Amino acid sequence: MRSDLCGNVTEVKLDQQVEVCGWVDKRRDHGGVIFIDLRDHSGILQVVVEPDNAEAFKIAEDARYEYCLHVKGHVRNRPEGQENPNLNSGKIEVVVDTYEVLNKSKPLPFMMDEEAGETIRLKHRYLDLRRPAMQKNMRLRSKLTRSIRNYLDDMDFLDMETPILTKATPEGARDFLVPSRVQQAKFYALPQSPQLFKQLLMMSGMDRYYQIARCFRDEDLRADRQPEFTQLDIEMAFVDQEEILNMAEGMIQKTFKHVLDVDLVSEFPRMTYAEAMSRFGSDKPDLRIDLELVDVAEALQNVEFKVFSAPANDPKGRVTVLKVPQGAKMSRKQIDDYAPFVARYGARGLAWIKVNAKENGRDGLQSPIVKFLDDDSLTAILDKTQAENGDLLFFGAGDYSTVTQYMGELRLKVGKDLDMVKEGWQPLWVVDFPMFEFNEDEKRWDAIHHPFTAPTGSVQDLIDNPGTALSKGYDIVMNGVEMGGGSIRIHNEEMQSAVLKLLGISEEEAQAKFGFLLEALQYGCPPHGGIALGLDRMAALMCGVESIREVIAFPKTSSAICPLTSAPSEISDKNLKEVHVQAIYPEVEDEDKV
Ligand code: AMO
Ligand code: AMP
Repeated sequence: MRSDLCGNVTEVKLDQQVEVCGWVDKRRDHGGVIFIDLRDHSGILQVVVEPDNAEAFKIAEDARYEYCLHVKGHVRNRPEGQENPNLNSGKIEVVVDTYEVLNKSKPLPFMMDEEAGETIRLKHRYLDLRRPAMQKNMRLRSKLTRSIRNYLDDMDFLDMETPILTKATPEGARDFLVPSRVQQAKFYALPQSPQLFKQLLMMSGMDRYYQIARCFRDEDLRADRQPEFTQLDIEMAFVDQEEILNMAEGMIQKTFKHVLDVDLVSEFPRMTYAEAMSRFGSDKPDLRIDLELVDVAEALQNVEFKVFSAPANDPKGRVTVLKVPQGAKMSRKQIDDYAPFVARYGARGLAWIKVNAKENGRDGLQSPIVKFLDDDSLTAILDKTQAENGDLLFFGAGDYSTVTQYMGELRLKVGKDLDMVKEGWQPLWVVDFPMFEFNEDEKRWDAIHHPFTAPTGSVQDLIDNPGTALSKGYDIVMNGVEMGGGSIRIHNEEMQSAVLKLLGISEEEAQAKFGFLLEALQYGCPPHGGIALGLDRMAALMCGVESIREVIAFPKTSSAICPLTSAPSEISDKNLKEVHVQAIYPEVEDEDKV
């Protein structure tokens, strides 16, 4: 139907005939001439309908936003002064010979060139996706997957599919369940990731596997979380951690180069989990922000101010300072506004000191807490944090994990508020994660990665010291976003059973849930490991958008709804009966009682 794409018609085609299709982006009438900006995915072309082409003119007078057109005409230069340097086709226009309306459009639910609410955008996603910004995101994502496939195909990875109707694979979220019609009162679970299948493929001698795999997790949604999302899932046999990190690093470098023409650093920095938590208050530090936490507990063990001395003397406590260079310029209100922010993460207060003139001792410090601290402690704080005049010190004091979390969040917030986020890309490997964290509610250990991640030590070491055991797990972080994670896996049955036991899973339960894995581990399982990258997050980073919804063609809202199709929806009793399920409907309030 067309000889050219709208955005590709340039002065090269001067005086030639072209045939183009697209949508009406804008229409202007000037002195009896109709100008239409015709848009397709490649860009915009100015189409002119002159009154002496009476037939075309008559139809074109009716043109409205998003009418779908098919136009034949010839290319001519735009009159002087009418060129548009922002368009590839900005020097020329097409004078219409024939003009055909392929399809009309109803009045639009939102204007294509304006910000619209998310629900309305998703309800009419096909219109939203026509917008140039969304076209760009979808095309970038496609280029990204192509680039990934090329890299992995060249390295002899097999692209393999794994089941969607399967059994629960614990990644820490709730499962989506699918009732079986054939097997009464039994359910499939949708995979939270292909984790166990990719391990089984290594046991099957496939050597190297990848899949661009859909994963399903029923969890609370945020900007970077969807109930179904896509992983680039990778597994390799006969490898150690170093080999996996090198492979993934090479792939990330190559895709950034190919997709964005960006040269990432030749060697990604690495940091242990412990260091990341201590210096940045996060297991995914954003290294673009030059702010760090400095622990000052030692200097405050003997002060009378209990808010500091209690955690300073508690092995599970933390007293730490976020030094904000030149932060003393902040107003009292600006500073006070951070207290409710950290309170959201469990902080009970946010003490601070402005270092105005440290040569004047305590008189040079402005703060609601200096009166509680002796001179030696103040000096020690200034020394330890290497504070300079003009700096502001924020204090976090309390139990280690709460303080670490809220001070980590404060670091990000202050960094953003003060425009301290540097341009560019800061990749980071976080390694040496702890194996477990203690679940106080259920009085048992939880896996930090997943239960198939290998510990660094022996079975006995693990049983003796689960609280300090480290895992062979790793995360790849980019600009403060957890882009992916993986590990070397447990490849013998004894270790796997020991880990499941520490997680509070009984032998019977282990057999019922993972019996197939425990058995497979006993037939010459090769050492293996892998990684999964969140493809949506990677694409969102590359597109420079906040939410992964901007890089998913048909995403769900934050309440897990698809406004386009109205999924999830009710099912008839007949359908439910077929799959042996009874629905519990929410109780409807009795109107008489209200
Ligand atoms: P993990 O659970 O860390 O590991 O997931 C890997 C990556 O997937 C992305 N991700 C998500 N993206 C969007 N929405 C979600 N709800 C969501 N959840 C996770 C993140 C994350 O880093 N099987 C292991 C991997 C392995 O060990 O090989 C796994 O799934 O970017
Ligand atoms: P208070 O004695 O509760 O009035 O607190 C005195 C100062 O210490 C106030 O500036 C509080 O914001 C701050 N503060 C209180 N608890 C903490 C805490 N756990 N961590 C940091 N600062 C705190």
